[in-house]
Amino acid sequence: MSPGLQTIFYIVASVLFILALGGLSNQETARRGNIYGMVGMGLALVATILGQQVHGAGYAWLIIAMVIGGSVGLFLAKKVQMTEMPELVAILHSFVGMAAVLVGFAGYFGTSPDSGHALEGAARTIHEIEIYLGVLIGAVTFTGSVVAFGKLKGIITSKPLTLPGRHWMNLGLGVLCIILGGVFVGGEHSGGAVTALIVMTIIAFIFGVHMVMAIGGADMPVVVSMLNSYSGWAAAATGFMLNNDLLIVTGALVGSSGAILSYIMCRAMNRKFIAVIAGGFGSDGGTAAPAAGDGEVQEYAPETSADEVAEMLNDAKEVVIVPGYGMAVAQAQHTINDITRKLKAKDINVRFAIHPVAGRMPGHMNVLLAEAKVSYDIVLEMDEINDDLPKVDVVLVIGANDIVNPSALDDPNSPIAGMPVLEVWKSGTVVVMKRGRGVGYAGVDNPLFFRDNTRMLYGDAKASVDAILSDIS
Ligand code: TAP
Repeated sequence: MSPGLQTIFYIVASVLFILALGGLSNQETARRGNIYGMVGMGLALVATILGQQVHGAGYAWLIIAMVIGGSVGLFLAKKVQMTEMPELVAILHSFVGMAAVLVGFAGYFGTSPDSGHALEGAARTIHEIEIYLGVLIGAVTFTGSVVAFGKLKGIITSKPLTLPGRHWMNLGLGVLCIILGGVFVGGEHSGGAVTALIVMTIIAFIFGVHMVMAIGGADMPVVVSMLNSYSGWAAAATGFMLNNDLLIVTGALVGSSGAILSYIMCRAMNRKFIAVIAGGFGSDGGTAAPAAGDGEVQEYAPETSADEVAEMLNDAKEVVIVPGYGMAVAQAQHTINDITRKLKAKDINVRFAIHPVAGRMPGHMNVLLAEAKVSYDIVLEMDEINDDLPKVDVVLVIGANDIVNPSALDDPNSPIAGMPVLEVWKSGTVVVMKRGRGVGYAGVDNPLFFRDNTRMLYGDAKASVDAILSDIS
């Protein structure tokens, strides 16, 4: 394929990626957005494989890589449960980071004086800056994503690691990377430049681990979107190193959309981005069950049963459903849709309230509800529904915890203080479905479970909603 034709393919693919992002911003257009993305990626692959850079044995390597990568991708896509998607996304980010590191090293040694492709003057300086930044971002993304994977999977504790003097340590590592950059750029290949590159890579690996280990509890949504952004910048840096315009554009799109998502997540949790990155939030862990006035520990709200809940729903005019991570674990969304249809048929107004950080990945609940074919017009964001909650008769909280925790608003000492939450306790009755007395992701106790107008329905959410469905007349 001629370079001109390849450029046309790349431009079309870039436009399709932009359309894909636009489509993904709305549930109604998300399917179309995905198709744009897939067609764009198909064009990008064809143009790259048939481009001038690939010849001879290169095709064999490409086929081997595509067969291995494609098989692993197919296997994972079939095997991974919806609840494991956040971990999968985190580990995929780590691949992008590692790729940037490897391409950086290959690019550096590929232009060494004895390689036959040595660069001189400004071209060499620019190339070395690209390599240094690419390896730096890639290495931070790699280890940061691996730790995020561990935290989301529960292999690593979600509590933040707060080393004494950690901010100074981060600052010191940053300054060291700048000094090493000075040694690397323009340095002799045989001299300290290689050592500087290797030492900086090790520092960046350590920094990635430390940065994500220091972020705890409910701040993980920002980490996931931030690493998404980093992986984009790592891909863009790889594009610069490989002189691939499409990779630069695609990386920049992912990088900037991830940065916007991080901003949205910070706003949703009322946090400052820098404060999240600096870490330490959630270090207090769980708080004790709230004490009654005389110092006695309060009783949990009374337990209810599926038929009682069905009766409440039959008598209600306004019902709001708040799905959380537990709904994803239980895969209860389809039955919840059936309940919604039954209630709507009885002229009961049923709506869904979605907290921006519900579940374990951005848009987690929206994806599950869309999969269950819940009509989009009754799925509302937190800001759209919070003011209506006092007028609601029954709220069903299905496997949600942190996102409905009143201590975020009432208790300035709570580790989640300041995070906007769905104020479900203002409604007539709140039914909380959960298996037992487990805490949410942030590891904080929830005073909602002790309120007078709360009723606890214990058990797996799927079993509970199945029973409610069969009891609704
Ligand atoms: P959580 O606060 O994690 O609470 C989930 C609750 O579901 C738990 O209390 C658990 O209680 C219950 N549960 C688990 N499995 C269940 C099942 N099979 N049936 C019924 N209940 C079940 O969830 P949330 O309210 O959705 O809040 C999300 C949290 O995750 C926030 O802290 C958020 O910051 C964090 N987070 C979010 C993201 C993104 S991007 N959304 C990423 C990382 C972390 P039992 O054990 O008692 O059943």
